[in-house]
Amino acid sequence: MGGLRNVSSVCSISEMDDFDLSRLLNKPKLNIERKRSFDERSLSELSIGLARGLDTYETTHSPGGRSGFGTPASSTRNSFEPHPMVADAWEALRRSMVYFRGQPVGTIAAYDHASEEVLNYDQVFVRDFVPSALAFLMNGEPDIVKHFLLKTLYLQGWEKRVDRFKLGEGVMPASFKVLHDPIRKTDSLVADFGESAIGRVAPVDSGFWWIILLRAYTKSTGDLSLAETPECQKGMRLILTLCLSEGFDTFPTLLCADGCSMIDRRMGIYGYPIEIQALFFMALRSASSLLKHDEEGKEFIERIVKRLHALSYHMRSYFWLDFQQLNDIYRYKTEEYSHTAVNKFNVIPDSIPDWVFDFMPTRGGYFIGNVSPARMDFRWFALGNCIAILSSLATHEQEMAIMDLIEARWEELVGEMPLKIAYPAIESHEWRIVTGCDPKNTRWSYHNGGSWPVLLWLLTAACIKTGRPQIARKAIDLAETRLLKDSWPEYYDGKVGRYIGKQARKYQTWSIAGYLVAKMMLEDPSHLGMISLEEDRQMKPMLKRSSSWTC
Ligand code: GLC
Repeated sequence: MGGLRNVSSVCSISEMDDFDLSRLLNKPKLNIERKRSFDERSLSELSIGLARGLDTYETTHSPGGRSGFGTPASSTRNSFEPHPMVADAWEALRRSMVYFRGQPVGTIAAYDHASEEVLNYDQVFVRDFVPSALAFLMNGEPDIVKHFLLKTLYLQGWEKRVDRFKLGEGVMPASFKVLHDPIRKTDSLVADFGESAIGRVAPVDSGFWWIILLRAYTKSTGDLSLAETPECQKGMRLILTLCLSEGFDTFPTLLCADGCSMIDRRMGIYGYPIEIQALFFMALRSASSLLKHDEEGKEFIERIVKRLHALSYHMRSYFWLDFQQLNDIYRYKTEEYSHTAVNKFNVIPDSIPDWVFDFMPTRGGYFIGNVSPARMDFRWFALGNCIAILSSLATHEQEMAIMDLIEARWEELVGEMPLKIAYPAIESHEWRIVTGCDPKNTRWSYHNGGSWPVLLWLLTAACIKTGRPQIARKAIDLAETRLLKDSWPEYYDGKVGRYIGKQARKYQTWSIAGYLVAKMMLEDPSHLGMISLEEDRQMKPMLKRSSSWTC
């Protein structure tokens, strides 16, 4: 990272702005030749959107004032009437805001009065707040995001214990709650780092989302001062210390317990789940642009660069599956020893599930769910694949292939409600063994093949980055037929996502915010820069670069 850049204490994020935007503007042109399934309308609309994005780009650095209920700033930039759902969504999003000593610090997971069982849905979840934060940033309201980042940073400083065991210093909470004492008129905080969570698992994704959000805030506001504070720098270093430590690992991926991410209960994702690996990659890249190049920062940046090299190689080689790769695995020899082994993890071809042979289109591919010795989880996970596109963990060819797969397998992955969290569902004996007979995760429900509207923003962002806004528009149209009418459910059930989820909350905040973010990004694609990273020019040719720098 330090190769081309002068060593200075200034964050490098502003340098990336021009680069990202110019690449973004080039995209549609490239894709006219490459992708014929586009219709001309979508392309010209995207170009108009991009041009408009350029106009408003400067202004996104100096957020406007707080807008009223029905008048989000985004809709005033609109050349067409906003969908009636948009105003309703803003109103619901604002209703979910949580205040600490008068300042907005986050949004609760769900504002569902009808539900008798609140559980922990009245808490501010770190992962759930991300789409809310993006919606506020896109609407020129960065304060709530800043307060959230500072509040969670403060919580990171707490001593965390599960029974008698102390957790790593850098662990960020899964969620927190503000307790109001009406008599003493005081507010206090309680947080959950895994010690209260069902299954007692620490959220590995929280710290990564925190870093990613800090970058989004910095890019959107142009305000480097928050990320540069000693507190934020230390917070990042603590998170990085947790995931860059050396141990018994032979892989650059991060070893995780089941339930440590959005899928926060047993679902057979222990090991090296794609969701965490993609977020890990994106957080590393975000941190490397936010860390100061001072003594401590430089040391971390060097470690990040090394890890990114190894991680991208590992993921792109071993997690990637397309028709050719599947055919190769199908013909693998087993029990190979030494460096010449082709089947390095000793995957037994008989363990390839039948469904994947039919599911794999001739054109297209994806990052599979998990890879470890003799175990490949061939399931598709939406979040990990979208983040792989946004972070440029996927090569250009791979990101195109992922979009090809989504188009080719639309019925299975999108169906009637975007977007399946995982595909396919596990059933019968396998469900018993893998989920431990979890009644919430029965086939085609919840995490086990359920459809989650929140994923719409990730799909939309991936569509814009790959120059296929038409796919996003189709998905948004589907969501618009149901979401408001069904009171913004948390998830849908069934093979094509037709039924409101068995135990889904209503007025689930991230379903609401995810919709708003998707709409705003499609209107103004320049917002994408907040949450997307172009391919790192310094990653592949690093050797060449650093040698030319030294001579
Ligand atoms: C469920 C989801 C989790 C989410 C939480 C709050 O537990 O699995 O991802 O963060 O609800 O909405």
